[in-house]
Amino acid sequence: MIFRQLFDLSSGTYSYLLASRRGGEALIIDPVLEKVDRYLQLMQELDVKLVKALDTHLHADHITGIGALRDRTHCTTVMGEQSNVDVVSMRVADGDQVEIDGLVLDVIYTPGHTDDSYSFLCGDRVFTGDTLLIRGTGRTDFQNGDPRAQYESLFGLLLRLPDETLVYPAHDYKGDMVSTIGEERACNPRLQVKSAQEYVDLMNSLHLTNPKMMDVAVPANMKQGLAQEQIARRGWAYSAEDARALAGKPDVALIDLREKRERERDGKIPGAVHLPYHDLQENISPGGVLRILAATSGKKLLFYCAFGERSAMAVQAGQDVGLSSACHIEGGLDAWKKAGGALDDGTACPRPGRGAGSRAVGERRAREAA
Ligand SMILES: [Fe+2]
Repeated sequence: MIFRQLFDLSSGTYSYLLASRRGGEALIIDPVLEKVDRYLQLMQELDVKLVKALDTHLHADHITGIGALRDRTHCTTVMGEQSNVDVVSMRVADGDQVEIDGLVLDVIYTPGHTDDSYSFLCGDRVFTGDTLLIRGTGRTDFQNGDPRAQYESLFGLLLRLPDETLVYPAHDYKGDMVSTIGEERACNPRLQVKSAQEYVDLMNSLHLTNPKMMDVAVPANMKQGLAQEQIARRGWAYSAEDARALAGKPDVALIDLREKRERERDGKIPGAVHLPYHDLQENISPGGVLRILAATSGKKLLFYCAFGERSAMAVQAGQDVGLSSACHIEGGLDAWKKAGGALDDGTACPRPGRGAGSRAVGERRAREAA
């Protein structure tokens, strides 16, 4: 396994690059915007291809690099389902798995530092974000932090991992790089409490000043930009409502770009072909499934994913290689459901008020109306 712990001095942030082998796929955890060039250089040197970039939570002390990495590598961005970030490609929940070629991360919901805090377990190591730090724990006094929830995340989940599990946090300000669950249980001063209430009282007595980057980082991290807007401006997007009229027509091939696990969890649009985003480059290459489908059937290629981000990138990639009928459902399955679109189990989602659809569609209509 390729494993690199990378450090951003100004914010004290650790980022982690993981890959199973040279020439294989890579994943990065908690990348920092200012370090994106360095990550890309390192990945080139290690001969790995970034396919997923994930944040353990919405950071308040640095601007995330996941948006820039998405723009430069077309990787899939991943965060927890509670996240308020405008668009991430894939939202995960407790018990899910994040997979790349040769590696699997188990997803553990560990709220408390924020309400969107997750930890990720990969074999003998756990990436704890700001939930469990080395000889510390993440503050719980902003961004919907909750010391009682953090106590449960720590004592009910993380400290139940095997003692020898390596602990890799999102930050350290003292120069410590790695610890273990057993070491933290024994030596972490925040964990030497006898009850949840004692922990709550301890955390509530800290009275910390806000991080110096907070006013800049939080709003920036909530807006990772919408590749979808560019695609819509080029006329390659359909609102979920318009897509409902298109789906099922003989000249339309509906293509689901999500991963198998997302399809099983969130449902599918009837009649869609499953061609995961993961394999897009191969599928749009000469001789690829999508090239052949477009050439032999003349069908419109209507992509969709969870929220419209992967599908927007797929449309651009398809158009770039001459697939002129490539288009997508703006806002993805999320918008489709909100617009009352049918799922493959025969259910139609309850239809909310007029004008429902993806946030992006709604926002654009609001601007047009103004
Ligand atoms: Fe944090």
